[in-house]
Amino acid sequence: MNRSKIGVLGAGTMGAGIAQVAATAGHRVVLVDSNENTLEKARSDYEKIFNRLVEKNKMTNEEMKETLNKISYSKSIESFSNCGLVIEAIIEKLEIKHQVFRELESVVSEECILASNTSSLSIASIGSVLKKSDRIIGIHFFNPAPLMPLVEIIPSVQTSPEVLQYSKSLIDSWGKLGVIAKDTPGFIVNRVARPFYGEALRIYEEGIADFATIDWAMTEIGGFKMGPFTLMDYIGNDINYAVTESVFSSFYYDPRFKPSFTQKRHFEAGFLGRKSGRGYFNYSEGVELPSPKKDFEKGRLIFERIISMLINEAFDALFMNVASKEDIEIAMTKGVNYPKGLFEWADELGLEKVLSVLSGLFEEYGEDRYRPNPLLKRMVRGN
Ligand SMILES: NC(=O)c1ccc[n+]([C@@H]2O[C@H](COP(=O)([O-])OP(=O)(O)OC[C@H]3O[C@@H](n4cnc5c(N)ncnc54)[C@H](O)[C@@H]3O)[C@@H](O)[C@H]2O)c1
Repeated sequence: MNRSKIGVLGAGTMGAGIAQVAATAGHRVVLVDSNENTLEKARSDYEKIFNRLVEKNKMTNEEMKETLNKISYSKSIESFSNCGLVIEAIIEKLEIKHQVFRELESVVSEECILASNTSSLSIASIGSVLKKSDRIIGIHFFNPAPLMPLVEIIPSVQTSPEVLQYSKSLIDSWGKLGVIAKDTPGFIVNRVARPFYGEALRIYEEGIADFATIDWAMTEIGGFKMGPFTLMDYIGNDINYAVTESVFSSFYYDPRFKPSFTQKRHFEAGFLGRKSGRGYFNYSEGVELPSPKKDFEKGRLIFERIISMLINEAFDALFMNVASKEDIEIAMTKGVNYPKGLFEWADELGLEKVLSVLSGLFEEYGEDRYRPNPLLKRMVRGN
């Protein structure tokens, strides 16, 4: 077995990026996809990407050739036979992943680690088809993998401590920031970030403010790089809605994660965002984007409501031992570029203030969605 040889299954958006990261870190990489055209596209994209890096003096010609030569392409899973780690990045369907992991196990060595880049499936369920299931782990990159520093590492109930330790040090050695997350829906980022979208949509639905004004409150007052509606238009309303729905159903329909009709209607209408030319905003040429109503008092209320919901979610992730406080801070600042970690933000605003915003909402609406987290309450009580 050769631990330095890495296999990547699926050469689409994520797989191609992950293979690039591993080859750049000096590994020999086997990239496998059932679709010949996808493999060809990955190969020609690498040439363009690395040529650009040479032009920018970030790589020498020699290094470019060396790195390109490190990647081999194949349509057959058999090519993974002497890999030490295989990262799967194919379609997000459990039945297909099951079939593929069974096939993988029949070709790799006993010691080979099998990882999945899944965003929403449980690692335990993916690993359940393996005979040697302590080799399963989640290694979740963010898009685009070569640029985003965060990688969530998700041990499941089956994963051995050695597999976790090896995966974490490998990812760190690739120059990434590996954070460890429990095998629970949305892991860290896709769980804690939900209110950024959900509460913004709720504020709009209540008629408190329009899209542009809510975005303005979060960027101007909150310091976020993008407002929630601009960001949802960038991600795509189809994708963002699907993640919300998946987290909601996986949490046994906890109202904290309830999806929004406004988003559903936008995606049903084909208003997917930038990629379709229209989402919450109209991106057609010559169309001016709407201006926000810059009422600072209202903007502050909007920001405090959304940030308090995000902080509550960060507290919940910590309370439920999804990850350490440090890893939750890293995940939100490096995975979704929040200007500050949510615990740091909570300290700045004051825990009493955050709790009073949440308790006020909980009292006013009587909805479970706004229930303050017990850990937050205990910390305020205990000062
Ligand atoms: N796109 C994102 O932003 C993102 C981010 C993090 C994680 N993920 C996860 O990564 C995985 C891949 O997502 P993606 O966006 O790269 O998908 P994609 O559609 O861009 O690529 C998937 C590739 O897998 C190939 N494939 C499908 N079935 C196969 C099989 N049985 N054998 C070999 N190849 C097969 C397809 O030909 C395709 O090239 C999913 O599990 C997704 O949840 C996606």
